[in-house]
Amino acid sequence: MSVARWRFRWDGAGQKIAVGDVDKGAMAQVRDDLAAANIEAIVEFCDVTSLESLNALADSTEAAFGRIDLVFANAGIGAGESGAMWDYSEKDWQWCFNVNMWGVINSIRAFMPRLVARNEEAHFVVTGSGNGALLVYPDQPIYTASKAAVHAITENLHYQVQAAQSPVKVSALFPGPHVVDTGLFNSGRVRPQELKKDVEGNASGISSVDDMKRMCAEFGIELQTTHPDEVAEMAVTGLQNDAFWLLSTTPETDAKIRSRASMILNRETPVPNMVGA
Ligand SMILES: NC(=O)c1ccc[n+]([C@@H]2O[C@H](COP(=O)([O-])OP(=O)(O)OC[C@H]3O[C@@H](n4cnc5c(N)ncnc54)[C@H](O)[C@@H]3O)[C@@H](O)[C@H]2O)c1
Repeated sequence: MSVARWRFRWDGAGQKIAVGDVDKGAMAQVRDDLAAANIEAIVEFCDVTSLESLNALADSTEAAFGRIDLVFANAGIGAGESGAMWDYSEKDWQWCFNVNMWGVINSIRAFMPRLVARNEEAHFVVTGSGNGALLVYPDQPIYTASKAAVHAITENLHYQVQAAQSPVKVSALFPGPHVVDTGLFNSGRVRPQELKKDVEGNASGISSVDDMKRMCAEFGIELQTTHPDEVAEMAVTGLQNDAFWLLSTTPETDAKIRSRASMILNRETPVPNMVGA
């Protein structure tokens, strides 16, 4: 979760940033990085599964910077699931939906009333995933389902600000075009104790992008990756153009999306796509 006062100087000059997260080590790192770049920032603990926590972040951002121009509802986790979904721990479903779906709902409830009430240009960006929003990959049903819900919420939010004739713009950010090399595959580091797995045998065994590369190689697939900076550049360029879709795809992904649409229109029985294939 991050919020900013940028006054629409997209070159970054004069920007002020508030970052909320539950990972205290990562927060210390981001605080140092922003200070080294001479960016005025507040970095504070914020758990997106709690509306109170997000309201507190919104309050301290407004108190420090006066106003909020950009909101990124970006927090997300991978539940690390594998195997048959009917054998999963209920806690895998709860944790993933708490962060990925309720985190977005809580962010909307904490920030949108403030942005809409100000009645000036502002942007609300939700990080979704093509896995769920655009395609249904077969091996991470909890994550995929959570991101399907996130996309439905985001697109509806876009329709609702338009219907309300609000100057606030909503955008759907899809990190990519390839798997982005981040901490997502090691989300277990921020899993709350009370929602720890209580079923043996449904862990994916993947805790990094390198693990994922190795697993893909076993299926003869060479997994490509994208650097996070590339995603940030794509997002800022899209936001400058008021784009809803902050989406960068490969021709292969486009083909999968077309094939899925045609499968639906032709009432064909679904066949699974593989990540990276
Ligand atoms: N990495 C990819 O390939 C990829 C692809 C598509 C979508 N995404 C999405 O991008 C977003 C960012 O993920 P990332 O890939 O940078 O992974 P990441 O793990 O590096 O970043 C996610 C951040 O969310 C934080 N977080 C987790 N639970 C939280 C909570 N309860 N409250 C507040 N913060 C919490 C983590 O501490 C972490 O800093 C996620 O929504 C993810 O689903 C990532």
